[in-house]
Amino acid sequence: MKKSSLLAVAALSGTAALLLAGCAGNGGGDSTDGGDAASTRACVILPDAASSPRWENFDRKYLEDGLTAAGFEVDIQNAQGDVNKFSTIADQQLTQGCGVMLLVDYQGAAEAVAAKASAEGIPVIAYDRPFAGADYYVSFDNVEVGRLQGQTVLDGLEAKGVAPADAVVVYIGGDPTDGNAAMFHDGAVEVMEAAGITPAAEPPGAWDQAKSQTNFEQALTSLNGKVDGVWAANDTNAAGVIKVLQDNNLGGVAVSGQDANVAGLQNILGGWQTATVYKPVKLEAEAAVKVAVALLSGEDVQTDATLDDGTPYVQVTPVLVGPDEVNDVVSAGDAPFDEVCTGTIPDLTNPDTQVELATLCEAHGVVEP
Ligand code: GAL
Repeated sequence: MKKSSLLAVAALSGTAALLLAGCAGNGGGDSTDGGDAASTRACVILPDAASSPRWENFDRKYLEDGLTAAGFEVDIQNAQGDVNKFSTIADQQLTQGCGVMLLVDYQGAAEAVAAKASAEGIPVIAYDRPFAGADYYVSFDNVEVGRLQGQTVLDGLEAKGVAPADAVVVYIGGDPTDGNAAMFHDGAVEVMEAAGITPAAEPPGAWDQAKSQTNFEQALTSLNGKVDGVWAANDTNAAGVIKVLQDNNLGGVAVSGQDANVAGLQNILGGWQTATVYKPVKLEAEAAVKVAVALLSGEDVQTDATLDDGTPYVQVTPVLVGPDEVNDVVSAGDAPFDEVCTGTIPDLTNPDTQVELATLCEAHGVVEP
């Protein structure tokens, strides 16, 4: 199947139901618990809701739409940050029958599920996060995500007038059990180290706002309150860091992020966060649907790279978003104008006072789509 155009997906969608209907044999379970019907079910497990709003706000919606349009019956569940729940959901889905499974790993739980699915002949797509035993990995170019974050830190330091080699930079990475976290780290470190940055502190990584806040607060104390930049691996982590910066009246620090969350976009407009890495989830979901359809219809899947363990990797391109690109995210429908441009945010130079987000939106050309 040719990769390039989304039209290919659209063209396929009309016939996909027919194609999928002819795909008995990939179906989960035996013919008594689903048979042919099971082969057209797409079973999806999301990891949690707290690490990033993306899972419930975007991945659920875009996967549901894309898989339905391709002729699948869709079952999307969320493990809510619980490895036991992850495997219970999987067992229930497999009992009902799955033609394909799309799993977003949570702390290693997907690997055992993939083994069970494979034993039943069901293809498994590692959606967004890698894990052993998947047939395909569909995600963004995650090292590139990291590079864009590293570039964000450099841009922020330049704006602050601090040379990278002299800068005090703290690393607030992602959960190390998420296979993406190392890729984000590698890409960010590649760019930052090439410019002369060495980390002043690097607490254990997590995808967690409260933990990031505590970890950064401790790091800041150990650095006697001096910081020039923070590599934060996503907007949720950045939000924890920014709370500490605001409490300590430390405006103008270079801060990176990822996911283009509403809070992240507001922090960018307010000047507290330098930029975020916007990952148009719609494109990622469409790429995954394409792979699912190709797998079930026996067509070739075109990939962009291969993971070290040999898993073929489909990569979607991430986008850097600073204050003047916030409107791109809003106009794409990936951040509601009413949420981004409502309320207030602490003033960068005097955090005890608040600035209207409506004013900041106007200044940066963020308009109602
Ligand atoms: C990563 C994902 C990011 C971010 C993070 C926290 O694996 O690629 O987009 O959301 O998890 O959930």
